[in-house]
Amino acid sequence: MSNAPSADSVTIAAGSPGVTLFVNASQTLTAAGPARARKGAEMQDAGVRVGIGVAIQGDRIIAVDHDEALYRAYPEAQEVDCDRGLLAPGFVDSHTHAVFGAPRWAEHELRATGVPYLEIARRGGGIHASVRDLRARTDHDLLELAKPRLARLAAGGVTTVEIKSGYGLSTTDELRTLRVVRQLQQTLPLNIVATCMAAHEVPLDRRVEPNGRSEWIEEIVHGIYPKVAAAQLARFADVFCEPGVFTLAETRQLLQAAASLGLATKLHADELHDGGGAALGAELGAVSVDHLAAISPEGIAALGASNTVATLLPATMLFLGTGRQAPARALIEAGAAVALASDFNPGTSPLQSFPLILTLAVSQLRLSAAEAWIAATVNGAAALGLAEHTGQLASGFWADIAIHAVDDFRALPYWFGERLCRVAWARGRVCHPLG
Ligand code: NIG
Ligand code: FE
Repeated sequence: MSNAPSADSVTIAAGSPGVTLFVNASQTLTAAGPARARKGAEMQDAGVRVGIGVAIQGDRIIAVDHDEALYRAYPEAQEVDCDRGLLAPGFVDSHTHAVFGAPRWAEHELRATGVPYLEIARRGGGIHASVRDLRARTDHDLLELAKPRLARLAAGGVTTVEIKSGYGLSTTDELRTLRVVRQLQQTLPLNIVATCMAAHEVPLDRRVEPNGRSEWIEEIVHGIYPKVAAAQLARFADVFCEPGVFTLAETRQLLQAAASLGLATKLHADELHDGGGAALGAELGAVSVDHLAAISPEGIAALGASNTVATLLPATMLFLGTGRQAPARALIEAGAAVALASDFNPGTSPLQSFPLILTLAVSQLRLSAAEAWIAATVNGAAALGLAEHTGQLASGFWADIAIHAVDDFRALPYWFGERLCRVAWARGRVCHPLG
């Protein structure tokens, strides 16, 4: 890191109330452009500028301009000295399962001996182990476990995080999980988006009943989704559409029911085997389909022709040890919008260092650094329906900003495993370091 600025804390000089200037950056990655997902070749332009600073007021960016122009326009403003670091939009981690209890390291070793992920689930482990564990914990316990995890994501420059339920798998425990997410929204200075993933699995207690599977789907459709929608506990519904979990027909039924209640939709699709989930997501107008390591050529073509974001989760494939990754280049060449996310969860991706995802994107998915940045900012925002609010440094957007101790945007994926984010703000509030 010979050319990187020091990672000591940022100085905030006194000044007039209201406006804060971020100045003296080595580079500014603006990701500026249309307030929508960037598709195909559009992902190559990360809007990297030199000599450019940002002015914020309250929770908004009010100007992005040359440092001198900002000083002239706001002579009394407070100042944040970027100390020749990289000034960038906060990352948008559009796919996590961050509310859970215990880690599951025994399974990690079991997979190393050759037992596959879905076989562990069939034996009552995997998601089911996290379900038993979550059901036995108090809300307070779940809340306190989630806070430091989210703080670690923020420490990598993440300012927006999606959190899914899906380890409750009963009406009570799914709603309870989403209420914990609501408490996190109310207590942490981060943008947090909630997703109901009651359709993460068929719970074990239902599997032993003759009609348990269809009754669980009925309970989600007629019980959980209406309650979630009425109490505005989630913005999205997500289904694990995968051979061995939920079928295409079940996924369609679930997501159509969710959509009819005003919930936007997402799918976990084609993760381990191609089940046609990507094409179904595109057909249903899902906001994103996620995973896609086993997507078919038809699925790639369907996403390329749609507005559905293809969210790739390279840490999951790495941690599962499958030796496979999603065909990111084929997706981009087909014209799809690719986003990157952590999939942070106790089974397949216990990763809380978001910048490592950019490294994996370049090294494993063969994205350029610029494409990886766009995938982790603008396209992550689009995968949450937030492209008009976050993901870029541009006037009118939320003041979601990170300063990294590198002097070039390509250095962040390159120096992998380092902690290089010095400070981050979400909607004008410091979210790293958290006091
Ligand atoms: O996105 N694929 C399904 N859900 C999670 C894993 C959940 C778990 O194993 O606990 C995922 O990888
Ligand atoms: Fe997931």
